[in-house]
Amino acid sequence: MARILVTGGTGYIGSHTVVCLMEQGYDVVIIDNLSNSNIEVLDGIEKIVGRRPDFENLDCLDYPNLDRLFTRYPDIEAIIHFAASKAVGESVEKPLMYYRNNIGSLVNLLELMSVHNVKHIVFSSSCTVYGQPDAAHLPVNETAPIQKALSPYGNTKQINEEIIQDTCHSNANIHATILRYFNPIGAHSSALIGELPNGVPNNLLPFVTQTASGLREKLRVFGDDYNTPDGSCIRDYIYVVDLAKAHVKAVERMLSGKAEEQVEIFNLGTGRGLSVLEILRTFIKVSGVHLKYEIVGRREGDIEQVWADPKRANEVLGWKADTPVEEVLLSAWNWEKRLRGIE
Ligand code: UD1
Repeated sequence: MARILVTGGTGYIGSHTVVCLMEQGYDVVIIDNLSNSNIEVLDGIEKIVGRRPDFENLDCLDYPNLDRLFTRYPDIEAIIHFAASKAVGESVEKPLMYYRNNIGSLVNLLELMSVHNVKHIVFSSSCTVYGQPDAAHLPVNETAPIQKALSPYGNTKQINEEIIQDTCHSNANIHATILRYFNPIGAHSSALIGELPNGVPNNLLPFVTQTASGLREKLRVFGDDYNTPDGSCIRDYIYVVDLAKAHVKAVERMLSGKAEEQVEIFNLGTGRGLSVLEILRTFIKVSGVHLKYEIVGRREGDIEQVWADPKRANEVLGWKADTPVEEVLLSAWNWEKRLRGIE
C-alpha cells in the first residue's frame, strides 16, 4: 500500500485523517513541529488503529531536513498538507509570520515534489475564500466567486490555491486536490483524539465544550441581529471524521489516475446551515448540561451566513458528510469530558 506524507498530522484534522488512512491500510509518515499540537496524539492514534504512524518532529520551512525526509522515505506517493497557522486574529497581528509559515511551507513541499518525483498533493483550504456569498450563491458551490480575503490567514489560503494552480500548470507531473472545508467540529468516537486548542478558544465548539465543563464561565454569542431566521450567524458544521474520510477519497482518486483535471477543487460541507443558537440548543439537549450563554455584539469580520453545496464532492468523490449533528456534538462533549476527567 502506498505511503502518504501527512504534514500537520498531529493536529486536529490531521490526526483524524491519519486514523482513516491507516484504517484503509496506508502507511503514513507524519511531520509536525508540534507548535499547536502534542506528541501524545500519537498514542491516541496507536490505540485506535493498533499501529503507530512514523513521525518526525520537523518544520515544513526547514528545506534541508525536509529534503532528507523525502530521501529517507522514497515510497511517499502523495502528500496531505495540513501544517499551517490558522488563528484569524493572530494573523492580523502577525501577518508576516502567517505569510512566511503558510506560504513558505507549501512552496518547499512543491519544490521537493519535483525533486523526489512525488506526484500528488491534497491541500487544506477553507470556505473563507468565498467571503460572504450573495444570496444567488447560497448554498455555495465551487464556481462561486472568490472574494478579497478579510485576514492574512484567509489570504494565505487564496495565495496557496494560486500557487498550486500555477505550479500544476507548469508541471504536468503534479496533480493537486484542493479541499475547501466548512466548519469542522467533533472528535473521534473513541474520545482518544480530538481538538486541543491552545489557550482561550476562538472557535465556537471548543468554547461551548469548555464552558460546559466549567473551564469558562459563559459563552458569548456574537450577535443576534443578523438577517437570519433567529438572528445568529449560520455555518455548515461538518464532522471531523467525515471530513477526514474525504481526504482518503481524494488521495485514492489521484493515485488511481481518476482525477480528470490537474487541479480539482471540492467543497466539503454537509449542505445544511445551522445557526449558533441551533447549535447551542442541540448541544444542551444531547449533553444534558446547563450551558450559560449571553448574547453580545457582533464579532468583527464575521460572515453572516454560509453553507456548502457539496454536490460535486458527493458525486465526483463519492463522499458524503452524513453523521447526525447530535452525534457530532456528543462526540465533542465526550472528548472534553475525557480531557477534564469528568464522568
Ligand atoms: C473561522 C474563520 C475561518 C477559519 C475557521 C478555522 C473568521 C471570520 N473565520 O470560521 O476563516 O477558516 O475559523 O478555524 O474568523 N461564535 C460565537 N461565540 C464564540 C465563538 C464563535 O458566537 O465564542 C460564532 C461566530 O460568530 C460564528 C460561529 O460561532 O458565527 C462560528 O465561529 P468559528 O467557530 O470561529 O468559525 P468561523 O468564524 O466560521
